[in-house]
Amino acid sequence: MNKMTVRDIEVTGKKVLVRVDFNVPVDPETGAIVDDSRIRATLPTIEYLIERNARVILISHLGRPRGKVVDELRLTPVAQRLSQILGQQVGVAVNCIGPEVEKSVETLKAGDVLLLENLRFHSDEETGSAEFARSLARLGDIFVNDAFGTSHRAHASIAGIGQYLPAVAGLLLEKEINTLSDLLEHPVHPFTSVFGGAKVSDKVGMLKNIMDKVDCLLIGGGMAATFLKARSCEVGTSLIEADCVDTAAELIEEARRSGARLILPEDVVITDELKSESEWEVVSVDAIPPDKKIADIGPATIENFRRELKDSRTVFWNGPMGVEEIPQFAAGTQALAMLLPELNGTTIVGGGSTAEVVDALGLGDSVTFISTGGGASLKFLGGEELPGVVALRDKGTL
Ligand code: 3PG
Repeated sequence: MNKMTVRDIEVTGKKVLVRVDFNVPVDPETGAIVDDSRIRATLPTIEYLIERNARVILISHLGRPRGKVVDELRLTPVAQRLSQILGQQVGVAVNCIGPEVEKSVETLKAGDVLLLENLRFHSDEETGSAEFARSLARLGDIFVNDAFGTSHRAHASIAGIGQYLPAVAGLLLEKEINTLSDLLEHPVHPFTSVFGGAKVSDKVGMLKNIMDKVDCLLIGGGMAATFLKARSCEVGTSLIEADCVDTAAELIEEARRSGARLILPEDVVITDELKSESEWEVVSVDAIPPDKKIADIGPATIENFRRELKDSRTVFWNGPMGVEEIPQFAAGTQALAMLLPELNGTTIVGGGSTAEVVDALGLGDSVTFISTGGGASLKFLGGEELPGVVALRDKGTL
Protein backbone atom coordinates (compact mmCIF):
# COMPACT_ATOMS: atom_id res chain seq x y z
CA MET A 1 0.00 0.00 0.00
CA ASN A 2 1.45 3.37 -0.95
CA LYS A 3 -0.27 5.19 1.94
CA MET A 4 1.33 6.24 5.23
CA THR A 5 0.39 4.21 8.25
CA VAL A 6 0.33 4.87 11.96
CA ARG A 7 3.90 3.51 12.04
CA ASP A 8 5.10 6.39 9.85
CA ILE A 9 4.08 9.20 12.20
CA GLU A 10 5.04 10.26 15.73
CA VAL A 11 2.09 9.49 17.98
CA THR A 12 3.61 9.68 21.46
CA GLY A 13 1.63 12.03 23.68
CA LYS A 14 -0.62 13.02 20.75
CA LYS A 15 -4.41 13.05 20.65
CA VAL A 16 -5.07 10.43 17.98
CA LEU A 17 -8.53 10.32 16.44
CA VAL A 18 -9.13 6.79 15.15
CA ARG A 19 -12.06 5.93 12.85
CA VAL A 20 -12.96 2.31 13.56
CA ASP A 21 -15.80 0.16 12.24
CA PHE A 22 -17.56 -1.07 15.37
CA ASN A 23 -20.72 -1.77 13.39
CA VAL A 24 -21.15 -5.13 15.14
CA PRO A 25 -24.26 -7.34 15.17
CA VAL A 26 -26.30 -6.70 18.31
CA ASP A 27 -29.09 -8.98 19.61
CA PRO A 28 -32.29 -6.85 19.34
CA GLU A 29 -33.84 -8.52 22.42
CA THR A 30 -30.93 -8.39 24.85
CA GLY A 31 -28.71 -5.67 23.35
CA ALA A 32 -25.76 -8.08 23.63
CA ILE A 33 -23.00 -8.07 21.02
CA VAL A 34 -23.38 -11.25 18.97
CA ASP A 35 -19.99 -11.17 17.24
CA ASP A 36 -17.09 -9.00 18.41
CA SER A 37 -14.61 -9.86 15.64
CA ARG A 38 -14.67 -6.31 14.26
CA ILE A 39 -13.72 -4.97 17.71
CA ARG A 40 -10.92 -7.52 18.09
CA ALA A 41 -9.63 -6.76 14.60
CA THR A 42 -8.79 -3.17 15.62
CA LEU A 43 -6.76 -4.20 18.68
CA PRO A 44 -3.36 -4.02 16.93
CA THR A 45 -3.88 -0.30 16.20
CA ILE A 46 -5.38 0.55 19.58
CA GLU A 47 -2.66 -1.33 21.48
CA TYR A 48 0.05 0.20 19.31
CA LEU A 49 -1.20 3.66 20.28
CA ILE A 50 -1.63 2.84 23.98
CA GLU A 51 1.91 1.43 24.15
CA ARG A 52 3.21 4.73 22.75
CA ASN A 53 1.32 6.82 25.28
CA ALA A 54 -1.04 8.37 22.75
CA ARG A 55 -4.43 9.64 23.91
CA VAL A 56 -6.80 7.50 21.89
CA ILE A 57 -10.16 8.86 20.70
CA LEU A 58 -12.23 6.26 18.85
CA ILE A 59 -15.06 7.18 16.50
CA SER A 60 -17.52 4.75 14.88
CA HIS A 61 -21.02 4.24 13.60
CA LEU A 62 -23.40 1.47 14.64
CA GLY A 63 -26.37 0.56 12.46
CA ARG A 64 -28.33 3.03 10.38
CA PRO A 65 -30.05 5.51 12.76
CA ARG A 66 -30.32 8.03 9.90
CA GLY A 67 -29.44 11.20 11.78
CA LYS A 68 -31.49 10.51 14.94
CA VAL A 69 -30.52 9.37 18.41
CA VAL A 70 -31.64 5.74 18.72
CA ASP A 71 -31.00 4.35 22.20
CA GLU A 72 -30.53 0.76 20.96
CA LEU A 73 -27.71 2.01 18.73
CA ARG A 74 -25.67 3.68 21.45
CA LEU A 75 -22.06 2.53 21.64
CA THR A 76 -22.03 1.82 25.41
CA PRO A 77 -22.07 -2.03 25.01
CA VAL A 78 -19.22 -1.75 22.53
CA ALA A 79 -17.15 0.29 24.99
CA GLN A 80 -17.87 -2.31 27.67
CA ARG A 81 -16.73 -5.15 25.43
CA LEU A 82 -13.61 -3.23 24.39
CA SER A 83 -12.81 -2.53 28.06
CA GLN A 84 -13.00 -6.28 28.80
CA ILE A 85 -10.80 -7.19 25.84
CA LEU A 86 -8.21 -4.46 26.49
CA GLY A 87 -8.23 -4.92 30.25
CA GLN A 88 -8.56 -1.19 30.76
CA GLN A 89 -11.49 1.14 31.17
CA VAL A 90 -12.80 2.66 27.92
CA GLY A 91 -15.07 5.64 28.55
CA VAL A 92 -17.97 6.66 26.28
CA ALA A 93 -18.60 10.31 25.48
CA VAL A 94 -22.13 11.71 25.41
CA ASN A 95 -21.81 12.77 21.79
CA CYS A 96 -19.14 12.79 19.08
CA ILE A 97 -18.78 16.56 18.62
CA GLY A 98 -19.32 19.68 20.70
CA PRO A 99 -17.87 21.45 23.76
CA GLU A 100 -18.71 18.69 26.22
CA VAL A 101 -16.87 16.10 24.13
CA GLU A 102 -13.94 18.49 23.68
CA LYS A 103 -13.76 18.80 27.49
CA SER A 104 -13.74 14.99 27.93
CA VAL A 105 -10.96 14.70 25.37
CA GLU A 106 -8.88 17.31 27.24
CA THR A 107 -9.01 15.19 30.43
CA LEU A 108 -7.49 12.14 28.69
CA LYS A 109 -4.11 11.05 29.98
CA ALA A 110 -1.37 9.21 28.08
CA GLY A 111 -2.61 5.73 27.13
CA ASP A 112 -6.29 6.46 27.87
CA VAL A 113 -9.01 5.39 25.41
CA LEU A 114 -12.31 7.19 24.89
CA LEU A 115 -15.08 6.05 22.52
CA LEU A 116 -17.29 8.82 21.16
CA GLU A 117 -21.04 8.27 20.62
CA ASN A 118 -22.46 6.94 17.31
CA LEU A 119 -21.44 9.22 14.43
CA ARG A 120 -24.65 8.46 12.53
CA PHE A 121 -26.79 10.14 15.19
CA HIS A 122 -25.83 13.19 13.07
CA SER A 123 -27.12 13.24 9.49
CA ASP A 124 -24.04 15.31 8.57
CA GLU A 125 -21.93 12.19 8.86
CA GLU A 126 -23.52 10.43 5.89
CA THR A 127 -23.87 13.56 3.76
CA GLY A 128 -20.13 14.06 4.13
CA SER A 129 -20.48 17.54 5.63
CA ALA A 130 -17.18 19.43 5.71
CA GLU A 131 -18.32 21.30 8.83
CA PHE A 132 -18.99 18.04 10.65
CA ALA A 133 -15.59 16.66 9.56
CA ARG A 134 -13.96 19.87 10.86
CA SER A 135 -15.72 19.52 14.23
CA LEU A 136 -14.42 15.97 14.54
CA ALA A 137 -10.93 17.00 13.46
CA ARG A 138 -10.85 19.63 16.23
CA LEU A 139 -10.65 16.74 18.74
CA GLY A 140 -7.31 15.30 17.60
CA ASP A 141 -3.78 16.03 16.39
CA ILE A 142 -3.62 13.07 14.01
CA PHE A 143 -6.30 11.08 12.17
CA VAL A 144 -6.03 7.31 11.70
CA ASN A 145 -8.47 5.42 9.50
CA ASP A 146 -8.78 1.81 10.64
CA ALA A 147 -12.39 1.37 9.46
CA PHE A 148 -11.80 -0.73 6.36
CA GLY A 149 -15.42 -1.95 6.46
CA THR A 150 -16.72 1.60 5.94
CA SER A 151 -13.99 2.94 3.66
CA HIS A 152 -16.21 2.59 0.57
CA ARG A 153 -18.46 5.35 2.00
CA ALA A 154 -17.54 9.00 1.33
CA HIS A 155 -18.80 9.93 4.80
CA ALA A 156 -17.45 12.87 6.81
CA SER A 157 -15.52 10.72 9.30
CA ILE A 158 -14.07 8.56 6.53
CA ALA A 159 -13.19 10.91 3.69
CA GLY A 160 -13.44 14.38 5.27
CA ILE A 161 -11.18 14.55 8.34
CA GLY A 162 -8.02 14.20 6.24
CA GLN A 163 -8.66 17.74 4.95
CA TYR A 164 -7.89 19.09 8.41
CA LEU A 165 -5.48 16.62 10.06
CA PRO A 166 -2.55 14.48 8.93
CA ALA A 167 -4.37 11.26 7.93
CA VAL A 168 -2.76 7.81 7.98
CA ALA A 169 -3.90 4.19 7.81
CA GLY A 170 -4.40 1.98 10.85
CA LEU A 171 -2.86 -1.49 11.00
CA LEU A 172 -6.13 -3.28 10.16
CA LEU A 173 -6.76 -1.10 7.13
CA GLU A 174 -3.20 -1.71 5.98
CA LYS A 175 -3.58 -5.48 6.39
CA GLU A 176 -6.90 -5.53 4.50
CA ILE A 177 -5.53 -3.53 1.57
CA ASN A 178 -2.29 -5.51 1.38
CA THR A 179 -4.05 -8.89 1.58
CA LEU A 180 -6.73 -8.06 -0.98
CA SER A 181 -4.20 -6.39 -3.31
CA ASP A 182 -2.02 -9.50 -3.14
CA LEU A 183 -5.04 -11.62 -4.00
CA LEU A 184 -5.58 -9.59 -7.17
CA GLU A 185 -1.95 -9.12 -8.13
CA HIS A 186 -0.07 -12.24 -7.03
CA PRO A 187 -2.44 -15.16 -6.48
CA VAL A 188 -0.80 -18.59 -6.40
CA HIS A 189 -2.47 -20.76 -9.04
CA PRO A 190 -4.79 -22.59 -9.31
CA PHE A 191 -6.91 -19.71 -7.99
CA THR A 192 -10.60 -20.42 -7.34
CA SER A 193 -13.20 -17.84 -6.36
CA VAL A 194 -16.50 -18.90 -4.86
CA PHE A 195 -19.41 -16.49 -5.16
CA GLY A 196 -22.81 -16.70 -3.55
CA GLY A 197 -25.38 -14.45 -1.94
CA ALA A 198 -28.55 -13.06 -3.37
CA LYS A 199 -27.56 -10.61 -6.04
CA VAL A 200 -25.53 -10.71 -9.23
CA SER A 201 -25.77 -6.91 -9.46
CA ASP A 202 -23.69 -6.49 -6.25
CA LYS A 203 -20.91 -8.59 -7.66
CA VAL A 204 -20.68 -7.71 -11.35
CA GLY A 205 -17.74 -5.33 -10.80
CA MET A 206 -15.83 -7.90 -8.81
CA LEU A 207 -16.63 -10.74 -11.22
CA LYS A 208 -15.41 -8.68 -14.16
CA ASN A 209 -12.26 -7.57 -12.40
CA ILE A 210 -11.32 -11.02 -11.15
CA MET A 211 -12.22 -12.96 -14.29
CA ASP A 212 -8.79 -12.87 -15.95
CA LYS A 213 -7.02 -13.67 -12.66
CA VAL A 214 -8.86 -16.82 -11.62
CA ASP A 215 -8.65 -20.34 -12.96
CA CYS A 216 -12.08 -21.28 -11.72
CA LEU A 217 -15.28 -19.54 -10.60
CA LEU A 218 -17.81 -21.45 -8.53
CA ILE A 219 -21.24 -19.83 -8.36
CA GLY A 220 -23.92 -20.74 -5.85
CA GLY A 221 -26.45 -18.92 -3.66
CA GLY A 222 -29.40 -16.90 -4.93
CA MET A 223 -27.29 -15.38 -7.70
CA ALA A 224 -26.86 -18.83 -9.29
CA ALA A 225 -30.53 -18.68 -10.36
CA THR A 226 -29.82 -15.68 -12.62
CA PHE A 227 -26.82 -17.48 -14.14
CA LEU A 228 -28.87 -20.67 -14.65
CA LYS A 229 -31.54 -18.61 -16.37
CA ALA A 230 -28.86 -17.13 -18.64
CA ARG A 231 -28.03 -20.74 -19.56
CA SER A 232 -31.69 -21.29 -20.41
CA CYS A 233 -32.55 -23.38 -17.33
CA GLU A 234 -36.03 -22.90 -15.90
CA VAL A 235 -35.67 -21.83 -12.26
CA GLY A 236 -39.31 -21.91 -11.12
CA THR A 237 -40.20 -19.18 -8.63
CA SER A 238 -36.56 -18.48 -7.64
CA LEU A 239 -35.86 -14.81 -7.28
CA ILE A 240 -33.86 -13.78 -10.32
CA GLU A 241 -32.66 -10.34 -11.36
CA ALA A 242 -34.35 -10.09 -14.74
CA ASP A 243 -32.20 -7.12 -15.74
CA CYS A 244 -29.04 -9.09 -14.96
CA VAL A 245 -29.74 -12.17 -17.09
CA ASP A 246 -27.94 -10.62 -20.07
CA THR A 247 -25.08 -9.52 -17.82
CA ALA A 248 -24.81 -13.08 -16.49
CA ALA A 249 -24.71 -14.37 -20.08
CA GLU A 250 -21.93 -11.87 -20.87
CA LEU A 251 -19.99 -12.97 -17.78
CA ILE A 252 -20.29 -16.61 -18.87
CA GLU A 253 -18.95 -15.61 -22.28
CA GLU A 254 -16.17 -13.51 -20.74
CA ALA A 255 -15.11 -16.44 -18.58
CA ARG A 256 -14.95 -18.62 -21.67
CA ARG A 257 -12.81 -16.05 -23.48
CA SER A 258 -10.42 -15.57 -20.56
CA GLY A 259 -10.06 -19.31 -19.97
CA ALA A 260 -11.65 -19.33 -16.50
CA ARG A 261 -13.90 -22.32 -15.80
CA LEU A 262 -17.23 -20.93 -14.57
CA ILE A 263 -19.09 -23.69 -12.74
CA LEU A 264 -22.76 -23.48 -11.81
CA PRO A 265 -24.74 -25.86 -9.58
CA GLU A 266 -25.76 -29.14 -11.17
CA ASP A 267 -28.30 -29.96 -8.46
CA VAL A 268 -30.17 -27.76 -5.99
CA VAL A 269 -32.40 -27.94 -2.92
CA ILE A 270 -35.87 -26.68 -3.86
CA THR A 271 -38.86 -25.72 -1.75
CA ASP A 272 -42.22 -23.89 -1.91
CA GLU A 273 -41.31 -21.23 0.61
CA LEU A 274 -38.14 -20.13 2.34
CA LYS A 275 -39.37 -21.08 5.82
CA SER A 276 -37.92 -23.41 8.43
CA GLU A 277 -40.91 -25.76 8.34
CA SER A 278 -41.12 -25.99 4.51
CA GLU A 279 -40.77 -29.35 2.78
CA TRP A 280 -37.78 -29.64 0.44
CA GLU A 281 -36.17 -31.98 -2.05
CA VAL A 282 -33.04 -32.20 -4.18
CA VAL A 283 -33.40 -32.04 -7.97
CA SER A 284 -31.19 -31.59 -11.00
CA VAL A 285 -31.09 -27.99 -12.25
CA ASP A 286 -32.82 -29.23 -15.42
CA ALA A 287 -35.82 -30.42 -13.41
CA ILE A 288 -36.88 -27.47 -11.27
CA PRO A 289 -40.73 -27.43 -11.26
CA PRO A 290 -42.43 -24.09 -12.12
CA ASP A 291 -43.85 -23.68 -8.58
CA LYS A 292 -40.62 -24.28 -6.60
CA LYS A 293 -37.66 -22.09 -5.74
CA ILE A 294 -33.97 -22.77 -5.16
CA ALA A 295 -32.95 -22.66 -1.49
CA ASP A 296 -29.45 -24.18 -1.48
CA ILE A 297 -26.93 -26.05 -3.61
CA GLY A 298 -27.38 -29.83 -3.70
CA PRO A 299 -25.03 -32.67 -2.62
CA ALA A 300 -23.60 -33.34 -6.10
CA THR A 301 -22.75 -29.65 -6.43
CA ILE A 302 -21.13 -29.62 -2.99
CA GLU A 303 -19.01 -32.58 -4.05
CA ASN A 304 -18.07 -30.92 -7.33
CA PHE A 305 -17.15 -27.64 -5.58
CA ARG A 306 -15.16 -29.63 -3.00
CA ARG A 307 -13.07 -31.28 -5.76
CA GLU A 308 -12.29 -27.90 -7.34
CA LEU A 309 -11.35 -26.31 -4.03
CA LYS A 310 -9.12 -29.20 -2.95
CA ASP A 311 -6.94 -28.68 -6.02
CA SER A 312 -6.69 -24.91 -5.54
CA ARG A 313 -3.77 -23.02 -4.00
CA THR A 314 -5.66 -19.76 -3.54
CA VAL A 315 -9.33 -19.58 -2.58
CA PHE A 316 -11.47 -16.49 -2.18
CA TRP A 317 -15.06 -16.91 -0.96
CA ASN A 318 -17.78 -14.30 -0.84
CA GLY A 319 -21.45 -15.06 -0.26
CA PRO A 320 -23.47 -17.98 1.16
CA MET A 321 -24.48 -20.93 -1.03
CA GLY A 322 -28.08 -20.96 0.17
CA VAL A 323 -30.48 -19.36 2.65
CA GLU A 324 -28.04 -20.07 5.45
CA GLU A 325 -30.10 -18.44 8.20
CA ILE A 326 -32.67 -21.28 7.83
CA PRO A 327 -30.99 -24.47 9.15
CA GLN A 328 -32.37 -26.85 6.51
CA PHE A 329 -31.03 -24.62 3.72
CA ALA A 330 -27.62 -24.04 5.31
CA ALA A 331 -25.95 -27.33 4.36
CA GLY A 332 -24.18 -26.01 1.24
CA THR A 333 -22.71 -23.00 3.01
CA GLN A 334 -21.68 -25.05 6.04
CA ALA A 335 -20.11 -27.79 3.92
CA LEU A 336 -17.92 -25.24 2.14
CA ALA A 337 -17.01 -23.55 5.42
CA MET A 338 -16.03 -26.91 6.98
CA LEU A 339 -13.81 -27.59 4.01
CA LEU A 340 -11.70 -24.45 4.51
CA PRO A 341 -9.37 -25.91 7.19
CA GLU A 342 -8.54 -28.83 4.88
CA LEU A 343 -7.41 -26.66 1.97
CA ASN A 344 -3.77 -26.11 1.08
CA GLY A 345 -2.68 -22.57 0.41
CA THR A 346 -4.26 -19.20 0.95
CA THR A 347 -7.92 -18.98 1.96
CA ILE A 348 -9.57 -15.58 2.11
CA VAL A 349 -13.14 -14.97 3.18
CA GLY A 350 -14.99 -11.80 2.16
CA GLY A 351 -16.81 -10.01 4.97
CA GLY A 352 -20.53 -9.86 5.74
CA SER A 353 -22.57 -13.04 6.15
CA THR A 354 -19.81 -15.37 4.86
CA ALA A 355 -17.52 -14.16 7.64
CA GLU A 356 -20.33 -14.61 10.18
CA VAL A 357 -20.87 -18.25 9.13
CA VAL A 358 -17.14 -19.05 9.30
CA ASP A 359 -16.86 -17.39 12.72
CA ALA A 360 -20.03 -19.04 14.06
CA LEU A 361 -18.59 -22.46 13.16
CA GLY A 362 -15.42 -21.56 15.08
CA LEU A 363 -13.31 -21.75 11.90
CA GLY A 364 -11.94 -18.21 12.02
CA ASP A 365 -8.44 -19.37 12.98
CA SER A 366 -8.19 -21.93 10.22
CA VAL A 367 -8.39 -19.51 7.30
CA THR A 368 -5.64 -17.19 6.14
CA PHE A 369 -7.72 -14.02 6.38
CA ILE A 370 -11.30 -12.93 7.01
CA SER A 371 -12.02 -9.46 5.70
CA THR A 372 -13.92 -7.16 8.07
CA GLY A 373 -15.54 -5.43 5.10
CA GLY A 374 -18.49 -6.81 3.14
CA GLY A 375 -19.34 -3.93 0.80
CA ALA A 376 -15.82 -2.48 1.06
CA SER A 377 -14.09 -5.70 -0.03
CA LEU A 378 -16.54 -6.09 -2.94
CA LYS A 379 -15.74 -2.58 -4.15
CA PHE A 380 -12.01 -2.98 -3.65
CA LEU A 381 -11.89 -6.31 -5.49
CA GLY A 382 -14.06 -4.74 -8.18
CA GLY A 383 -11.14 -2.39 -8.85
CA GLU A 384 -12.76 0.70 -7.35
CA GLU A 385 -10.86 3.24 -5.29
CA LEU A 386 -12.14 3.51 -1.73
CA PRO A 387 -12.75 7.12 -0.56
CA GLY A 388 -11.38 6.24 2.89
CA VAL A 389 -8.08 5.13 1.38
CA VAL A 390 -7.81 7.91 -1.19
CA ALA A 391 -8.09 10.47 1.66
CA LEU A 392 -4.91 9.21 3.38
CA ARG A 393 -1.44 10.70 2.94
CA ASP A 394 0.75 9.04 0.33
CA LYS A 395 3.96 7.52 1.66
CA GLY A 396 6.71 10.07 2.10
CA THR A 397 4.46 13.14 2.18
CA LEU A 398 4.76 14.09 5.85
C1 3PG B 1 -20.74 -2.58 7.07
O1 3PG B 1 -21.23 -3.20 8.02
O2 3PG B 1 -20.68 -3.09 5.92
C2 3PG B 1 -20.10 -1.25 7.33
O3 3PG B 1 -20.06 -0.96 8.68
C3 3PG B 1 -20.81 -0.18 6.56
O4 3PG B 1 -22.12 -0.05 7.01
P1 3PG B 1 -23.24 0.59 6.06
O5 3PG B 1 -23.49 -0.40 4.97
O6 3PG B 1 -24.43 0.82 6.95
O7 3PG B 1 -22.67 1.88 5.52
